Amino acid sequence: MSSAANLQTPRPLVSASILNADMSDLGRAVRAVTGAEADWVHLDVMDGNFVPNLTFGPPIIGALRTHTSLPFDAHLMVQNPDALLPEYVSAGAEWVTVHAEVCPHLHRTLCWIRELGARPGVALNPATPLAMVENILGDLDLLLIMTVNPGFGGQSFIAGMLPKIRRARELLDAAGSPARLQVDGGINPETAPVVCEAGADVLVVGSALWDHQDGIRAAVRDVRSACRLPQMRV
Ligand code: DX5
Ligand code: ZN
Repeated sequence: MSSAANLQTPRPLVSASILNADMSDLGRAVRAVTGAEADWVHLDVMDGNFVPNLTFGPPIIGALRTHTSLPFDAHLMVQNPDALLPEYVSAGAEWVTVHAEVCPHLHRTLCWIRELGARPGVALNPATPLAMVENILGDLDLLLIMTVNPGFGGQSFIAGMLPKIRRARELLDAAGSPARLQVDGGINPETAPVVCEAGADVLVVGSALWDHQDGIRAAVRDVRSACRLPQMRV
């Protein structure tokens, strides 16, 4: 982990994605990640348009809100996030992340999320350059570097994103921004230390949680302890 990242966050946060949980019992999934001591719950909203897959929206997020007190981290993979922003915040999303690729007035959208009382985030697909956010770093509380192409859980981490994560960390530090640097896609005990070293401080973990042979508590523990390995501190 870089010295700057070390100073900002003693350990990375784990945002548990429920995308690969039992979709017929999401309340149970949210309670499970809470019991596993994840830091946040990552909610992957997909509209079948921006991404090919479909998941859930504000009504289900609202229904899940009663199952945990963990912060809800809503990742909006939708073509028109502005259409339902008040509903996501009313449903209980503390963090609302929109994709730069679909927001022609990104600054306005971020300001609106903040006015609604949530923390604004911007996600960048693997092919989207950091230049999309360089002029608005002061207006976001979270920058999400996608390490897979969004739409599905269980994909392989794209190692070519590491220089982008490092550069994002440099940009945030140079701007004096306290914004979180989140990564999403293919994060597991092997890739987690590498992205932490590059400067990420919020790790979205999906299938590595639900596929762990010893359960999600062990999975969260393994991701955290992998990031604490002495040899990864550089
Ligand atoms: C993918 C989603 C991710 C997904 C990650 O589009 O944004 O949050 O749940 O899943 P894994 O960890 O399996 O890559
Ligand atoms: Zn996500």
